[in-house]
Amino acid sequence: NIRGAGRAHAKTILVGEHTVVHGTPALAFPLPALSVRAIAGPVGAVKVNSSVGQQLRFVTESTSDQTEPMSGPRVAVEEALRRWGKAGAVVEVVVDCAIPHARGLGSSAACAGAAVRAVADLYGESLDATELYELVQRGEQVAHGRASGVDASAVSADGPIWFQAGVSRPLTINLDAALVIADTGTYGATQRAVAAVRRKLEREPLRANRLLRRAEELIGSAAADLSAGRAEPLGSTLLAFHDLLDELGVSTPQLDNLVTAAMKAGALGAKLTGAGHGGCVLALTETGDAERVSAALRRAGAAQTWILGTREPHTTP
Ligand code: PMV
Repeated sequence: NIRGAGRAHAKTILVGEHTVVHGTPALAFPLPALSVRAIAGPVGAVKVNSSVGQQLRFVTESTSDQTEPMSGPRVAVEEALRRWGKAGAVVEVVVDCAIPHARGLGSSAACAGAAVRAVADLYGESLDATELYELVQRGEQVAHGRASGVDASAVSADGPIWFQAGVSRPLTINLDAALVIADTGTYGATQRAVAAVRRKLEREPLRANRLLRRAEELIGSAAADLSAGRAEPLGSTLLAFHDLLDELGVSTPQLDNLVTAAMKAGALGAKLTGAGHGGCVLALTETGDAERVSAALRRAGAAQTWILGTREPHTTP
């Protein structure tokens, strides 16, 4: 191949953000409407004609191109080249990313996933899910410090996942409902939020223990509700998880405002999703209510919204 191509997609965390860093499971859905494409090839020869979003490029093993947003993808690709016996190879990768940056939608992991797949395609290397996860996770450690791995796993998964301590499995979904994701338009800061939660939990071990046990219960009942097709209890669980995240200190008035707006418009439940301190809210609705809740969220100040059916096909388009 003279060029390689790869794809990945955004993700949204249903429940378990932050607590997953401290050992609980997390449940995440792929968001294929927001995709990333990457093309890899010889330096100067990689062109992208039609764009799905923002174009970013990096060159492996180059010191002149330490552009911050691509440090994670670049580390992931350089590690891949080492594993494939191509250490020091100089490859240019163009990443075309439709995922808004720093909104808890997994843009850094998805860019790394698409980039690694493009370079694997370029060299004809086969890449299984475990190897892809390890490589993307290596990049995430650079971009986010200590990352749980839920993003690295979800952005290349072809369906909703249950994730815990580096291991993921497909989630069983027998629920017909919709998830409405609404972007506050403000940047989250994953590393800062994760560090603040860690300090809080370390300062108050008894409270930490109680919160993590509570989180584990909520995540367990969310998984059971998805599998049994119970929408209303799942909605209550999402609200309870939002309160827990608020207690951990990662919500903001804008996020709380969108949660309230979603509930007023008839959502079954809503919560912040991702690291918080900005970023997005996720609401669970009956399928027929999704458009109305989505419009209400935009009226309440959301910059953008996306609707995802809980049983939609989840592969990247
Ligand atoms: O990238 P974000 O904003 O979706 O955050 C990832 C989820 C966290 O639990 C906050 C961090 C992690 O490493 O799991």
